[in-house]
Amino acid sequence: MTRSNSFQIEVLSPAIGALVRGVNLAEPASDDLIGEIRSALLAHKVIFFEGQDFTPGQQRDFAARFGDLHLHPLYDRNDAHPEIMIIDNHVDNPTDNNFWHTDVTFIETPPMGSILAARTLPPTGGDTMWASMSAAYDALSAPMQRFLEGLEAIHDFAYAFTAQGLAGSQAGRERYEKAVAENPPVTHPVVRCHPETGQRGIFVNSVFTRRIKGLRREESQALMTFLNAHVQKPEFVVRWRWRSGDVAFWDNRNTQHRAVDDFLPHRRIMTRATVLGDRPFFAPTA
Ligand code: SIN
Repeated sequence: MTRSNSFQIEVLSPAIGALVRGVNLAEPASDDLIGEIRSALLAHKVIFFEGQDFTPGQQRDFAARFGDLHLHPLYDRNDAHPEIMIIDNHVDNPTDNNFWHTDVTFIETPPMGSILAARTLPPTGGDTMWASMSAAYDALSAPMQRFLEGLEAIHDFAYAFTAQGLAGSQAGRERYEKAVAENPPVTHPVVRCHPETGQRGIFVNSVFTRRIKGLRREESQALMTFLNAHVQKPEFVVRWRWRSGDVAFWDNRNTQHRAVDDFLPHRRIMTRATVLGDRPFFAPTA
């Protein structure tokens, strides 16, 4: 157990994950406390808070201390606080978050982080897993690192989201078509440098990355298959078993995550606030 000025930190695995004790996220936080939480996030990539009781409005206010918030073009939003996205999974709406991904890489400035709160949980199951993309990058051989560092990839909203499921209603179809029109494919480096720590990390994912630029189709597919398997090695992963009142805050710039789809027919409701980040870049060492 280590200690910051304001809270205690229990490290959960060498690569990723820490439990933060002694913070009430519902209370307005001082700039110092926000700075300490940011430092814990940078050090551990995903941090967990237990026993929280914060409203969607308080979740939005806490998230907004870290940057502007993203409005998801497709997912349901809280009526009073549209920055709060609702993930409500049940038999008629099974989870679609059960694939490894980094949030919203289909925009020019993908999120710096996301804050996820458990609202309704199944009796068991419905865990979430996170993987460190800098640990995954560090574990590659030097020749593979050099090869990847020269590459860029296309990330595409329409690759991840299809009209299926929304096609039943005119409003659903229109929302989807508007989202596709407003989110054309974007290009990001395959390896990005973290803007605050400088750490390098793999920045492609199975959900939003359509292809690697400059490679033949079968080369891109083979490389993506390798990377998508590599990033989920248990050495890079922490798994969180949710309890009522838990909140997770992850650094979306060097992690991937996925929900575990094992809880139907029970219901699981989570709310997420998503903090926008900056344009990913790769800077070669001099
Ligand atoms: C997400 O993919 O942002 C949410 C993951 C989860 O529901 O566990």
